[in-house]
Amino acid sequence: METILNVPQGMFEMRRLPFRKNEKLRAWDAADEYLLQHLSEQVRLQGQSRVLILNDSFGALAIALNALRPVVLSDSWLSQQATKLNLDANGLPQNAIQFKNSLDWPAEPFDAVFIKVPKTLAFLEDQLIHLQDLITENTVIIAAGMVKAMPAAVWKLMDKYLGPTKPSLAKKKARLIFVEASIRKSFETPYPIYYQLENTDYRICNHANVFSRESLDIGTRFLLEYLPKNTDAKDIVDLGCGNGVVGLMLAEFHFLSKLYFVDESYMAIASAKETFSLAFPERAADYCIADGLTGFKTESIDLIVCNPPFHQQNTLGSQIALSMFKQSFRVLRKGGTLWVIGNRHLGYHLDLKRLFKVCIEIAANKKFVIWRVNK
Ligand SMILES: C[S@@+](CC[C@H](N)C(=O)[O-])C[C@H]1O[C@@H](n2cnc3c(N)ncnc32)[C@H](O)[C@@H]1O
Repeated sequence: METILNVPQGMFEMRRLPFRKNEKLRAWDAADEYLLQHLSEQVRLQGQSRVLILNDSFGALAIALNALRPVVLSDSWLSQQATKLNLDANGLPQNAIQFKNSLDWPAEPFDAVFIKVPKTLAFLEDQLIHLQDLITENTVIIAAGMVKAMPAAVWKLMDKYLGPTKPSLAKKKARLIFVEASIRKSFETPYPIYYQLENTDYRICNHANVFSRESLDIGTRFLLEYLPKNTDAKDIVDLGCGNGVVGLMLAEFHFLSKLYFVDESYMAIASAKETFSLAFPERAADYCIADGLTGFKTESIDLIVCNPPFHQQNTLGSQIALSMFKQSFRVLRKGGTLWVIGNRHLGYHLDLKRLFKVCIEIAANKKFVIWRVNK
């Protein structure tokens, strides 16, 4: 797999996270290359220009533009970590880039804003609303993405919030969108939004980039029906917690247990924290922004429940799920259990069986299966 990004700004060693043996995917895409090429040919930016980069995948844009000391804003902890490791790999200082998370917007306007179009339109919309306060009529705004990830709705949102748009030609299935910044009516972001969990009084908090943010996902609903109840688990993890709805119900069924909410999305962790604090204001819990269970001690947890992600940014795959299963095997105490829900066709039981030897099917419907494994 190619690891050298070769662009007009230089040659840079770039890797994705999490690390995988025999990684087949590059840490950048054709949209990064297209944008960097365009910037070197057409856009004059100087060292003192204020540059903001949104949703850089693993740091390709920020690292190539490090001479401009950009501010990089992302919802992904893995993305930020990868960028930091890639800075090191290229002998660049950590302060070459200023890191911000998706809930921590800077206050001062920027001379240039470069946006990698995210997978979730609601998240893009939330970002564009925040951007309104950070641009002037002179701000250079360019969005970049793979054509398949840029439906017409993306253009419409840019037009609505930032100004008239113009597309580039497509190159290697990537496209740029140029935005003529204009000061528009000020919109307020509707996020976070809340829904009431069916058959309960609980209110579920959802920031813009959270999985199934408007209502309970049908897979999660199925999982909630079968959650383990009243076990003697002392320590319980909601792995890939999103808005925290699974951990919330586990807490209700385990009044004395300690809950840990784990996700790599800043917005997910903020949502889970708010969801849990609203439901149990007196009860402490741990909130971990990380690549799954990497920070957990070996044999420290009794029960893990996981509805794994099936994509990383715009890339589909079960590698994160598999890594979560391996981490769970390490982190569970002897006799501890892992519960997993998945789409039937993803066949998670094959990996679970390989790792834990015995995999029990707890429930199944046309679409989903719930499995339990014991250590
Ligand atoms: C399918 S959603 C499940 C959300 C929630 N548990 C539910 O059932 O509604 C998967 C979650 O895993 C998170 N995730 C993805 N990669 C992760 C990683 N490497 N470590 C921790 N969480 C991750 C995503 O941000 C997302 O919130």
